[in-house]
Amino acid sequence: MMNLITGLSGIGYHPGSWRHPSSWTRPLMNLEYLIEVAHTAERGKLDMLFLADGNSVRMSAPHVLAAGGLLSRPAIHEPVTLLTAIAQHTKNIGLLATATTTYEEPFTLARKFASLDHLSNGRASWNVVTTSNPGDAYNFSRDSHMARVDRYERAREFVQVVKGLWDSWADDALTQDRETGQILDPAKIHVLNHKGKHLSVKGPLNCARPPQGYPVLFMAGQSEPGRDLSASMADCQFAVTPTKEEAMAYYADLKARLPKYGRRPEDLRVMPGATIYVGRTSEEADEFFEELQSRIPPELGVDYLSGLMSMDLTQLPIDGPVPEPQEIVGGSSRRYVIYDMAKRENLTIRQTYERVIPTVGHVLMKGNGKQVAEQMIDWYRSKACDGFNVHIPHQPSGLTNFVDFVIPELQHAGAFRKEYEGRNLRERMGLPVPSNPYFTEAAEPMPQSA
Ligand SMILES: Cc1cc2nc3c(=O)[nH]c(=O)nc-3n(C[C@H](O)[C@H](O)[C@H](O)COP(=O)(O)O)c2cc1C
Repeated sequence: MMNLITGLSGIGYHPGSWRHPSSWTRPLMNLEYLIEVAHTAERGKLDMLFLADGNSVRMSAPHVLAAGGLLSRPAIHEPVTLLTAIAQHTKNIGLLATATTTYEEPFTLARKFASLDHLSNGRASWNVVTTSNPGDAYNFSRDSHMARVDRYERAREFVQVVKGLWDSWADDALTQDRETGQILDPAKIHVLNHKGKHLSVKGPLNCARPPQGYPVLFMAGQSEPGRDLSASMADCQFAVTPTKEEAMAYYADLKARLPKYGRRPEDLRVMPGATIYVGRTSEEADEFFEELQSRIPPELGVDYLSGLMSMDLTQLPIDGPVPEPQEIVGGSSRRYVIYDMAKRENLTIRQTYERVIPTVGHVLMKGNGKQVAEQMIDWYRSKACDGFNVHIPHQPSGLTNFVDFVIPELQHAGAFRKEYEGRNLRERMGLPVPSNPYFTEAAEPMPQSA
């Protein structure tokens, strides 16, 4: 069965959507709307709610910033904090927060995610990123962003340290036995004592081992080092693959890397983004799509494309060609995917932003519920993916339409769950629950307090 996740946002992905009369008013940082999104996604039995993140506001020209480019991320909640609040309003859905290995410290990160896993009864997931926006460096006492090769080297060491910290305590270490007066078993603590090239962390962590062993690990990098890191240690991988053929090639490439690390193909779920416009009828979906497209101001369109491609296109003719990206420090490999499409189809800057804005470089699936479900199932059965990161163009109707029109079709075809099963997110997704390498014997059941 496929896995499905969706963004936790009160604003749709389409930059023209928030001004549509049917959108939520004053949607920024509004917890009530986010709880409603979470309830709808849980009603649809989705695997996870996802928060992308960065650590700076991308300062465009004032008139562009004022028009509301979503990539500028002017006002968003800190992801683990927000998901801890959402955990109190939901029961089964996974909670996926982005956090960077480049600017965080492993001890605080391990502690935050372990806490989220406990507070949500085993529903935490970490999107491990190395940060694409070089400007984040200036908020962390640095003059420049680390080069990609160094970011990935640190990321590999960082994730190993975080796992080592999560393994600080055996699952049955906190005995809390009133009779004997033993609150914990000192023989069941592991002190990490890590000293590596980038990090030095003694441990142990001051939080019990997460209920899932480790929260589900998501990764996003598309480059060679990014793919290798995912193949060696991720449970799930995002992808930016606008066509089924590209998705199949990417899927095969990633799965072929797993045996080198002693892992099985099913140990890594590949989940490309898919932007979904669904209506009661295909005509309704088409009309809504065109309506949102007509609401993109050109200055926002050019700025949006500049942000996605990490290059300034604002001084170039809007009806001229898209220039080839140069190698820079930072910047995601998504910029090359967009450039290749523009070159292949001879698109101008305007045509390119009109093409990428509704999808942000992902595949577009549009139609009624049955049509969209058929496209999703086709990708899934063709080994182009194990599931999708469902991009919702407009809130709240984009998600409610997806849950009401597409999910029943997927369920009817046996491609998606009808009920949540399993004790935690890993079990629900069919992912292995990692044992603690420092305490390999089967854990004794935790003694109950009187
Ligand atoms: C689909 C996707 C989602 C991403 N999400 C984030 C994010 O939320 N925050 C972030 O700082 N970086 C994000 N990144 C950037 C990656 O962490 C990475 O730094 C960047 O892609 C450069 O590595 P690469 O060349 O291996 O792709 C994302 C990348 C991709 C492809």
